[in-house]
Amino acid sequence: MEASLRKKVLKRGLSERWQSEPMLGTDYGEEEIEVVVATIRASMEPSVGFGFITDEFEVFEREFADYCGTEHAVSICTASVGLEMAMRCLDLQPGDEVICPSINFVAAPMSVLGHGGKLVLCEVDPRTLCADPNDVEKRITPRTRALLITHMNGLSAPMDDFFELAERHPNPDHGPPKVIGDAARAAGGGYKGGKIGKTGWMTIFSFHTMKNMSTLGEGGMITTDDGDIVPRLREMRQFGGEHWGSSYKMTKVQAAVGPVQLRRLDGFISARRKLAEQRTKLLSGCPWLTLPYEPEDCYHSYYMYTMFVPPEWGGKKRDLLISLLDDEYDVECRIFNPPVHKTAPFVARHTEGQELPLSVELGGRIICPPIHPTMSEEDNEYIAAAVWEAVEKIAAEA
Ligand SMILES: Cc1ncc(COP(=O)(O)O)c(C=O)c1O
Repeated sequence: MEASLRKKVLKRGLSERWQSEPMLGTDYGEEEIEVVVATIRASMEPSVGFGFITDEFEVFEREFADYCGTEHAVSICTASVGLEMAMRCLDLQPGDEVICPSINFVAAPMSVLGHGGKLVLCEVDPRTLCADPNDVEKRITPRTRALLITHMNGLSAPMDDFFELAERHPNPDHGPPKVIGDAARAAGGGYKGGKIGKTGWMTIFSFHTMKNMSTLGEGGMITTDDGDIVPRLREMRQFGGEHWGSSYKMTKVQAAVGPVQLRRLDGFISARRKLAEQRTKLLSGCPWLTLPYEPEDCYHSYYMYTMFVPPEWGGKKRDLLISLLDDEYDVECRIFNPPVHKTAPFVARHTEGQELPLSVELGGRIICPPIHPTMSEEDNEYIAAAVWEAVEKIAAEA
């Protein structure tokens, strides 16, 4: 981005201050409002109410499963609960291990610890921030029961590598470790021509307010082709039966709004991708930045636009850059995510002695400027100009 263009764009300013992870990650319109109102109206009779698992759930689950290309989908109240349900289905015994990346949101590691698993953290591919199959292989043992892989920041992890690894390292009692995807941030992303969520024993999605699509603030879905596990998931979601259960349902109104957001999801993702492409074009050539990487077999949903500063800037200078962007340019950037074993004390206590030098290094270099499907090209241009100029200032400080 030429200096003269940067100057012009910065002078023009921003139309609004964007949060680094906007509180509403999607867009709502009349159709969502109408379906919400209609669902409330249709539930107002004492004999009707909001029900348990109503038609709205079945429609949403069928449409979501079809979208992902799986046999089944089970709607739930949050992705965190979905991760816990997946862990519970493993019936982990003391000493059973689950491998999970440390560069991660904390929910997946917590789900392992919450269900009695030994959490084994792994390194990520420094280009994608998704779990690195080579490092996972080093950490697999005969006690490994599952690989809990996050599709980080909207990009698919290399799932086929994990299936192949699992086949080569079967658990003596349980067979190949289960490969489970945490796609909380990745609805609408793609892998090898299919959608994220198509492969894996289970894939867990979030419809929290910040996510690629949302169901009125909270919500989630588990996709799977394993018909044998579905009754257990459904029982777990609603008070149990043959198996233990509780109440993990979303509401009928959320289930009704789900298909509307789902129909708009591809549009949200193309808007994110257009902005990411524009930003990458504008920032390419900035010598201090490593820009997002999209492997050929992936279709990035750009939940985050993830960049890296040079290793020698790690930590202090990266933090200065974040402050400068915030204070002088009104551009809020954040770190998605620093290593969980350094930031979550509970996780740290349970992973003492695990060495993850790459994750620690990367944690000091990540910086994510805002991206949102309704952002204008002009605001995106401003953000790119601000990033470039702020980076130049930090570089000049020596
Ligand atoms: C990677 C990842 N996993 C899990 C979750 C948890 O999702 P939920 O808020 O639906 O429980 C999040 C939410 O931010 C996330 O980013």
